[in-house]
Amino acid sequence: DGCGHLVTYQDSGTMTSKNYPGTYPNHTVCEKTITVPKGKRLILRLGDLDIESQTCASDYLLFTSSSDQYGPYCGSMTVPKELLLNTSEVTVRFESGSHISGRGFLLTYASSDHPDLITCLERASHYLKTEYSKFCPAGCRDVAGDISGNMVDGYRDTSLLCKAAIHAGIIADELGGQISVLQRKGISRYEGILANGVLSRDGSLSDKRFLFTSNGCSRSLSLEPDGQIRASSSWQSVNESGDQVHWSPGQARLQDQGPSWASGDSSNNHKSREWLEIDLGEKKKITGIRTTGSTQSNFNFYVKSFVMNFKNNNSKWKTYKGIVNNEEKVFQGNSNFRDPVQNNFIPPIVARYVRVVPQTWHQRIALKVELIGCQITQGNDSLVWRKTSQSTSVSTKKEDETITRPVPSEETSTGINITTVAIPLVLLVVLVFAGMGIFAAFRKKKKKGSPYGSAEAQKTDCWKQIKYPFARHQSAEFTISYDNEKEMTQKLDLITSDMAG
Ligand SMILES: *[C@@H]1O[C@H](CO)[C@@H](O)[C@H](O)[C@H]1NC(C)=O
Ligand SMILES: *[C@@H]1O[C@H](CO)[C@@H](O)[C@H](O)[C@H]1NC(C)=O
Ligand SMILES: *[C@@H]1O[C@H](CO)[C@@H](O)[C@H](O)[C@H]1NC(C)=O
Ligand SMILES: *[C@@H]1O[C@H](CO)[C@@H](O)[C@H](O)[C@H]1NC(C)=O
Ligand SMILES: *[C@@H]1O[C@H](CO)[C@@H](O)[C@H](O)[C@H]1NC(C)=O
Ligand SMILES: *[C@@H]1O[C@H](CO)[C@@H](O)[C@H](O)[C@H]1NC(C)=O
Repeated sequence: DGCGHLVTYQDSGTMTSKNYPGTYPNHTVCEKTITVPKGKRLILRLGDLDIESQTCASDYLLFTSSSDQYGPYCGSMTVPKELLLNTSEVTVRFESGSHISGRGFLLTYASSDHPDLITCLERASHYLKTEYSKFCPAGCRDVAGDISGNMVDGYRDTSLLCKAAIHAGIIADELGGQISVLQRKGISRYEGILANGVLSRDGSLSDKRFLFTSNGCSRSLSLEPDGQIRASSSWQSVNESGDQVHWSPGQARLQDQGPSWASGDSSNNHKSREWLEIDLGEKKKITGIRTTGSTQSNFNFYVKSFVMNFKNNNSKWKTYKGIVNNEEKVFQGNSNFRDPVQNNFIPPIVARYVRVVPQTWHQRIALKVELIGCQITQGNDSLVWRKTSQSTSVSTKKEDETITRPVPSEETSTGINITTVAIPLVLLVVLVFAGMGIFAAFRKKKKKGSPYGSAEAQKTDCWKQIKYPFARHQSAEFTISYDNEKEMTQKLDLITSDMAG
C-alpha cells in the first residue's frame, strides 16, 4: 500500500502518496477508487506532483474513469491543475519503482457542486482579491504546512487557507466546506494558539492578513456569577500561610483571575467521571468552548482531553457525537496549565445545560471555561435552528447542508450599507486628525516626547477604522466585475512557482 493520507467524505476528500511531503517509498502501488454522489461530476485538483521519473515507466500517477484516462503523469511534464470528469467515479493509481527523491502527489477532489474547490496547499497569498469564497475539501488538517495567527485577530497571509479555516472553527476537518475570506492589512505580530487540534504559530509582521466571515454566532456566552456552575467535586488546598484555598466550580470562568476549578479526586480513575456543569439559564446555541488549566504556575494541572454532555430542562443527558462515525467526540484539550485552547462544535450544541467531562488530564483535573455562541431567538432562522438542534444528537445528510451552506450574506449587506456611512465617517476622521494635529503640536511645545507614544497608538487605531470600511466598499463593487479566469491563472502560476521552489 503506497497510499498516504486519505480522508473522504460524501462529496470531497484529500489523498496523498505515502510519506508526503517526504520521499515516497521504493516499489509501491497505491490504488484507490474515489466517488462523489451519482449524477454529479468529479473535479480533481492536483496540489502537488513531484515524481522523479521522466518516462513514467515505473513511477507515475494515472486516473482512469469509465470513459477516459488521464495520464500517466510524472517528472517535469505539464500537468493540468484541475480535471473536470464527466463521471462520478475515478480510479487513482500511483506506482513507484526504484528512485532517490520525489514528494509524490497531493490530490483533492470534490463534486461539480463545488467548482471553487481548492487544495489543502493554497495560501491566502495566492489570491489578490479582498473578498472571496472557496471550497475546502475534507481532510486538510493533517497536511504539512504552517499557519500563524488566530480567529480573532486574523491569520498571516502565508498561512494555509483550509487548515486555518479548521483552526478557526469555520469548517470541520472530516467534512470540509465553504469558506469566505476577507483580506486585510497585516499586523505586526500574530499570536498562535491551539484550536480544533491545529496549532497555529506566532508570526511576525506581514503585509496582509486574512479573516473568515462567520455566521456571527461567536460571542462569549457570559457566565453570570453564582449558581450557574456546578461540579462533581472540588478541591481545597492549603497555601504557604496556612490558609485554605478553594478551587470551587464558581472559579471556572475563564475571564476571572485566581485559581480555577479543580476536582477533589486526583487519581486517574476513569470510572468515577468528574464533570463541570454550566447552566446557561435558557436554551442557547453553543458553537465553541475555550478552556485553560489551573492558570497557577505552582499547580501544573490541566485537562488533556474531554467530551461534552448536554441537556435541556427535563431531558436526559446526551453526549456530543461526531458526524462521520456517530461516536462520542473526544476534544483535544490543554497541553499546559496556562494557555487557552479552543474547540468548536460543528454542528453546534443547542442546549441549556452543558457538562465538560474530562477524559485524560495532567496530575489533577483543573479547568476554566468560556462558552462561545449566541441566543437562539436571534433573527428569523427558525428552520436552520431546528435542523441544527436535531443534529447535535443524530447525524443525517441534511444537517451537513446546514453547515456547509455558504455563509450568510450579512457581510455583503453591511458592505453596501457602509457606502452611506463612509462619507460622514471621512468627515469625522478628518476632524479627528485635525484635532490630533493641533493636540500633538500643543503637546510638543509643552513637553518633549513622553506621552507621544499613546497619541501615536491612537492615530494608528483611527487609521484602522478608516481603512476597513473603504476596503469593504471597494470590494463590494469589485465583486460585480468578478473575473474568475484571471484570478485562476494568476493563482496557478503562483502554485506552479511554489512547486518549482
Ligand atoms: C465523457 O467524455 C468522453 C470524451 O472525453 C466521451 O467519449 C464520453 O462519451 C463522455 N461520457 C459521457 C457519459 O458523457
Ligand atoms: C530506493 O532504492 C535505492 C537503491 O536500492 C536507494 O538508493 C534509494 O535510497 C531508495 N529510495 C528510497 C526512497 O528509499
Ligand atoms: C493564602 O490565602 C489567603 C486567603 O486566600 C491569602 O490572604 C494569602 O495572601 C495567601 N497567602 C499566600 C502566601 O499566598
Ligand atoms: C426551562 O426552565 C426555565 C426556568 O426554570 C423556563 O424559564 C424555561 O421556559 C424552560 N424551558 C423549556 C423549554 O421548558
Ligand atoms: C420567519 O420567516 C418565515 C418565512 O421565511 C415567516 O413565515 C415567519 O412569519 C417569520 N417569522 C418571524 C417571527 O418573523
Ligand atoms: C441599510 O441599513 C438600513 C437600516 O440601518 C436599512 O433600512 C437599509 O435597507 C439598508 N440598506 C441596504 C442597501 O442594505
